[in-house]
Amino acid sequence: MALLAVALLSLVGQILIQVFLNSLLDDSHVVNIAGRQRMLSQRLSKTAVLLCLPQVFQADAEHYSQDIKEIITLWESSHEGLKNKNLKTDGRNYTVRNSEKIDSMFRQIDPIFQVILLNAKTIESTINKPVQNQQEVLHNARNQILTNERAFLQMMNKIVFQYDLESRERVDTTKKIELFLFILLFSILILEGAFIFRPIANNIRFVIKRLTDSESNLRKTNDELVKTQEALVQATEEKYKLQLAEEKIRAASLMEGQEGERKRLAADLHDGIGQMLTGLRLHSEKVKSFDFTNTKQAKSFEELQNLIQETIEATRTVSFNLAPSVLSDFGVVPAIRILTEQVSKVTDIKIDFQSQNIPRLHEAIETCLYRITQEALHNAVKYSKSPSVKIQLSDNETFVSLSIIDKGEGFDLKTVQKSLRGSGLKNMQARAELLNGSYKIQSKIGKGTTIKIEIPK
Ligand SMILES: Nc1ncnc2c1ncn2[C@@H]1O[C@H](COP(=O)(O)OP(=O)(O)OP(=O)(O)O)[C@@H](O)[C@H]1O
Ligand SMILES: [Mg+2]
Repeated sequence: MALLAVALLSLVGQILIQVFLNSLLDDSHVVNIAGRQRMLSQRLSKTAVLLCLPQVFQADAEHYSQDIKEIITLWESSHEGLKNKNLKTDGRNYTVRNSEKIDSMFRQIDPIFQVILLNAKTIESTINKPVQNQQEVLHNARNQILTNERAFLQMMNKIVFQYDLESRERVDTTKKIELFLFILLFSILILEGAFIFRPIANNIRFVIKRLTDSESNLRKTNDELVKTQEALVQATEEKYKLQLAEEKIRAASLMEGQEGERKRLAADLHDGIGQMLTGLRLHSEKVKSFDFTNTKQAKSFEELQNLIQETIEATRTVSFNLAPSVLSDFGVVPAIRILTEQVSKVTDIKIDFQSQNIPRLHEAIETCLYRITQEALHNAVKYSKSPSVKIQLSDNETFVSLSIIDKGEGFDLKTVQKSLRGSGLKNMQARAELLNGSYKIQSKIGKGTTIKIEIPK
């Protein structure tokens, strides 16, 4: 609305100026024509005088008669135009604004004008048509013109001045209106500035400030959110780590307990049933010195003795498998060697065990290596159908590495992992990871299986 008011006022001012310029143009033209009437009346008198002079009449009669004709036409039409407010020059209409005063002036000048016009026309018509008393008529007419010319000029002067005065007055009025419009426009602009634009600018400034504030607040909140998120992630990670550690500890104690149980069972077997069996065999040796009544009895007894011997050996093997004392007594290398020898004895598989001279390791590491080898070897025997198995044990300053390789049938790891069948592979991995080691298994159907363990010392 504010801008519309300014625009409207500017538009009104512009239209006013355009209208005023046009009317000024008309006014100046009217003043001009009125001034020209004076000049034409003088020319008319002069030409009338000249035409009435016999010598001139002789020489340039035609020229002056033409002149007077043209002057009469222009003079008359201009007078009528001014008087009747209907001025038309060069095909254009001009607005003639005659005031009451000018109208009354025209009423005064009109009889004088008519006398001059009549006599001028008489001269013009008489000059070319020789009539009786031509000279007298001409002189009479000329005298009439000259007598009235002065009064006409004086009156016309007044009219011209009046036109000029009124035109100036109109200019002044228009100037005043323009000034008024300018002051109005200026006041409106000042008022709009004070009551509309300034409050709007202040408001916008306020809104921008609030926006900036809320943006910085948002950024702060966002930062806090990110921090909280990070803290949350960290807490979750820690919780996860804690859980993992707890699980590790649980698994470790479980395995430790298992190992302890095995050892206890092995000792019981060895020291209990094993000793009893040994006693039984010693007794049977004594009984052997007695004479049997027949050979059948002797043979049965020999078979009994063999059975006792086999049971002793089987008990030893079971006891050994449960917890080989050689592992705690001599270390992992001899223990694995005995294991491989035992397995070779009962199967056709050729076992190639390669190892460096590894020093004694921590008990947990040795048990881990032994149990993994045991499980991997048993798996290879049970499933691979490979004619040979290779076991490699080596170490460096930081790690002990163990690998068990067979070139047998292999298997699809994903299928086995999904099937939840058996726990041998899982236990191998768990044992290695419990000691912060790594466990890798590769198996391809038809190509065999490779298991690699690395445990930090
Ligand atoms: N060396 C291998 N050659 C071919 N297949 C194997 C070999 N090792 C394991 N497998 C396959 O992977 C499966 C899972 O072995 P894993 O040792 O976990 O369980 P398991 O031997 O069946 O039972 P568990 O060891 O608990 O007595 C086996 O059933 C077998 O099909
Ligand atoms: Mg197994």
